[in-house]
Amino acid sequence: MSITEDAVVDALRQVQDPELLRDLVSLNMVQDVVVDGDSVSLTIVLTTPACPLRDTIEQDVKAALEGIGAESIALEWSAHVPTFNPAPGQTELPGVKNIIAIASNKGGVGKSTLATNIAIALAQAGAAVGLIDADITGPNLPRMFGLPAGFQQDSERGLHVVERHGVKMVSLGFLIPPGSPVVWRGPMIGSGVRQLIHDVQWGELDYLLIDLPPGTSDASMSMAQEAPIAGAIIISTPQAVALEDAEKAVTMFEKLNVPVFGIVENMSYFITPDSGQRIEIFGHGGAQDAADDLAIDFLGEVPLEQDVREGGDSGRPIVVEHPESAAAQAFTAIAHKVAAKVSVLDLVQA
Ligand SMILES: Nc1ncnc2c1ncn2[C@@H]1O[C@H](COP(=O)(O)OP(=O)(O)O)[C@@H](O)[C@H]1O
Ligand SMILES: [Mg+2]
Repeated sequence: MSITEDAVVDALRQVQDPELLRDLVSLNMVQDVVVDGDSVSLTIVLTTPACPLRDTIEQDVKAALEGIGAESIALEWSAHVPTFNPAPGQTELPGVKNIIAIASNKGGVGKSTLATNIAIALAQAGAAVGLIDADITGPNLPRMFGLPAGFQQDSERGLHVVERHGVKMVSLGFLIPPGSPVVWRGPMIGSGVRQLIHDVQWGELDYLLIDLPPGTSDASMSMAQEAPIAGAIIISTPQAVALEDAEKAVTMFEKLNVPVFGIVENMSYFITPDSGQRIEIFGHGGAQDAADDLAIDFLGEVPLEQDVREGGDSGRPIVVEHPESAAAQAFTAIAHKVAAKVSVLDLVQA
């Protein structure tokens, strides 16, 4: 019995996107269906190229098509990332689909490391990604990306985006010569933040990540109000003090009506290189507990690895240099989880 295109579409109406919990057809994810006898080819248009559940979708689609007698199935994949609708009064960034903030209430917990590695992981998956270093208390993304401090200070173009490891990034560190201490005060913070977000040519971006300054300072507050942020990722180390701080960050975003995608535990454990023994230097599982208490999602744990620190210092991030490492895989899994959460949010909103 030969298969019809209608039969293919009907079969795929029974397949749900495991994250979006709607069927692939009503989500417009099924395209270019071609049937030739018992051979079927089609394209699945995902809502993010960093889809964490692509394998599940593939299995479900194949099972559904085999159920109507397909003998040979050729699947192509593409992605179209949906766009977040800013709240009334928020200024849209033309061409930028989704803004994601990365925050903590403490410095040194790995915010910039997370921002760098998940930005690159999203770009590696095929997304168009930007990154703002908004940590005016210590803009260190230039170093993490292997760019010198202050190299744009005499540029005729002023502050502008640089593309590195597939990510378009900008930092006030591009304007500040090496070693010079920066003291930002009230009004300057607001205008610095506005410049970073609105005066930069981003082009078309699926995701724009913002590495916020630690705490609930003027800078993070004005940043969060200035940009139409889709959602925030909170990062913490496992010990109690850092967690209390993470909870404050969650409260800040709640006040600003920005959803929190979840919490990441960094420096979660250490595997000794010689014996492979697992040591929990700062304790373990605290972020999961905090996530449970605060009723937000736990996004994953990242081990303490020397290569993470060295990658940060040398401008060769771990997802580029050692993608096989446990830390790089954790960063990549977190990036994909967040991308899926953005898709769900955009869809619910639409
Ligand atoms: N998982 C990790 N393993 C090893 N070193 C890490 C890890 N996460 C962060 N670091 C290191 O800790 C230091 C602080 O991290 P950073 O990302 O700059 O924190 P923050 O932006 O929150 O101040 C950096 O030297 C960084 O390389
Ligand atoms: Mg930082």
